[in-house]
Amino acid sequence: MSFGTVEVRRSKSKTALARHHDRALRGELARVSKPIPWEDFERERYAEPALALARDLFTKLAMGEYSAVGLFAQITAGLAFTGAPLDIVAASTRVGSDEIRHAEYCLRMAELCAGEPVSVLIEHEAIAANVPAATNQANVDFLVFKYAAIGETLAAALLTECRRRATDPVLKALFGSLVADEVHHARLGWYYAAYRAPLFTLPERQELADRVAEFVMGIEEEFWLGRDAPVSARGAAKALGVLDSDTQRRVIADVMEGEILGALDEVGLGASLAWRARRRPAGA
Ligand SMILES: [Fe+2]
Ligand SMILES: [Fe+2]
Repeated sequence: MSFGTVEVRRSKSKTALARHHDRALRGELARVSKPIPWEDFERERYAEPALALARDLFTKLAMGEYSAVGLFAQITAGLAFTGAPLDIVAASTRVGSDEIRHAEYCLRMAELCAGEPVSVLIEHEAIAANVPAATNQANVDFLVFKYAAIGETLAAALLTECRRRATDPVLKALFGSLVADEVHHARLGWYYAAYRAPLFTLPERQELADRVAEFVMGIEEEFWLGRDAPVSARGAAKALGVLDSDTQRRVIADVMEGEILGALDEVGLGASLAWRARRRPAGA
């Protein structure tokens, strides 16, 4: 890894994150997460197929959240190595502590749905294959755009819909707690985009546009299948906040077309074109 010498000064991004940072320094932003009423969960109220889908949802979420701890540690390192403004580096350091809390919450919910202890297997090599090392500016740009700006915006949209559907008070509180944090993680990504965009050289912008386009073209396919309950368990699955395929597809299309593509286009990445050329799943 070689970044040579990075000049660090007391600079901040010219985004709203800078004000947020000042408030954090004054201790005004201590985010205390609302307690989740775990003890109130009544497993026996729900049909087994719905519980199995919710267990699968929270197991997968736990894996993603746990992986995000290491991922954001790398992103934070990359931001520091490349001399990003202090408010951006500071915001990035906070993401990991949210993600490990999310991993614990999701495991706990998976266990409540399963009625027994649950563990997950994290395959670091498979993850590492998709995560370029945060050892140069181009990779740091790509990592922040992919995982913070786009990835966290997708996560926030999906979890918001889960919270909207869920009627179980434990699930509603849990989704609400996750969304409240993911929104901050997504904002970090977009503040970084606003900070970096005016500084891009042409080749940097082109390289990032190509890499982001490749990612954007696969998103619909990646989220095509939700968790479809048998008719008899549909109400229960909904009460637990589980998204069926139709709902998940609609959420992804809405957030891509309503938020993400426009924001990427605005920083010159031409993502709308990539979206029009996206890979369509069979039956789309
Ligand atoms: Fe998370
Ligand atoms: Fe997150």
